[in-house]
Amino acid sequence: MSTAATTAATSAAAIRTQVAIVGAGPAGLVLSHLLADAGIDSIIIDQRSRADIETTIRAGILEQGTVDLLRAIDPHTRVDEVGMRHDGIELRVRGEGHRIDFPGLVGRSVWLYPQHEVLKDLLALRLGAGQDIRFGVTAERVDDAASARPRVIAHTADGAPLEIEADFVVGADGSRSVVRAAVAGASGDGYFREYPFAWFGILCEAPPSADELIYSNSDSGFALISQRSPEVQRMYFQCAPDIDAAAMTDAEIWDTLQARVPGTTLREGPIFQRDVLRFRSFVARELRHGRAALVGDAAHTVPPTGAKGMNLAIADVIVLARALEALLVGGDERPIDGYAERALDRIWKAQHFSWWMTSMLHTAPDATEFDRHRQAGELRSVVESEAGRTFLAEAYTGWPVG
Ligand code: PHB
Repeated sequence: MSTAATTAATSAAAIRTQVAIVGAGPAGLVLSHLLADAGIDSIIIDQRSRADIETTIRAGILEQGTVDLLRAIDPHTRVDEVGMRHDGIELRVRGEGHRIDFPGLVGRSVWLYPQHEVLKDLLALRLGAGQDIRFGVTAERVDDAASARPRVIAHTADGAPLEIEADFVVGADGSRSVVRAAVAGASGDGYFREYPFAWFGILCEAPPSADELIYSNSDSGFALISQRSPEVQRMYFQCAPDIDAAAMTDAEIWDTLQARVPGTTLREGPIFQRDVLRFRSFVARELRHGRAALVGDAAHTVPPTGAKGMNLAIADVIVLARALEALLVGGDERPIDGYAERALDRIWKAQHFSWWMTSMLHTAPDATEFDRHRQAGELRSVVESEAGRTFLAEAYTGWPVG
């Protein structure tokens, strides 16, 4: 189906496909699968190597709907083999634990399954199905997005130009999206919020300190006790955004974490990775322009407290895949015209939830006594009320995609 051609203007080797996908993250890979199912061919490019994609540590919580989709894509998905179903989380307020029982409240659960494992599975599956994925290819820009023949202008790792001509271009290329300029304008215009704190994250070799995740609000700040496997744990504590991750000793890290989870004795072990996660909320003003659209982090960023990042990306992709099928198979423009509105409905709910969990659980550096008491009142009004817990459970496990 693809015809190789040479474009006089750039003398780049132009390849042709129906959908050019920039970014081989969860959004790009799931999209290529859903498109292939609909008989639509696509090419994915990503500037990273396959090994980079498979080893970068990201978040770990999958919503019920994300797991349902991964099962539909692959009935033998390793989520069911090595992922861990979690039927609740604990909100700990100054040492007092309150469990949010997901199945009891909303009949849904979440799974702890690291994003890089999802990526390994999806890459193996897509490459096994013959998907054209080009690693080490950097997109420079998208030309002619408003026309019926948008083009991705890119180059390979050794600098050779590469041009992809498509019926549609999708930016699944993360928060530093190159495609965004073609969709949302040169400034990548959008709605933006920064937070006066970050997370200091560690991976350590130790057994789990608790059966479920603990989100702890303490007098000295926030901490999250998460997991990766029976042998490896992921933990975070609130820190200043400009902290130097290398400056703390392991003992200081453990003291900080321990002080913030009163009521639990953390099981310590060698720390083998540390990183600092900045907190941002962002939604691009436009998600689609002509024959180009944005999904996932290219379209929006959420702070990690609500564990929404990858789940939201997959939800965008489900909506976009249906719209592209209508457009490219059925010649129906209406679903793609409605893509932004449909996707934004969920995006803003997730933005609110992520902001709310963040502001409810963290201690702002300039918090007054009033703010601290109000926050404690807010937390109690959630955990002590079934309606409050249900609201949290519904958002955390993910609203149905429909
Ligand atoms: C993680 O395990 O990395 C994780 C879990 C829950 C969150 C954020 C990150 O809310």
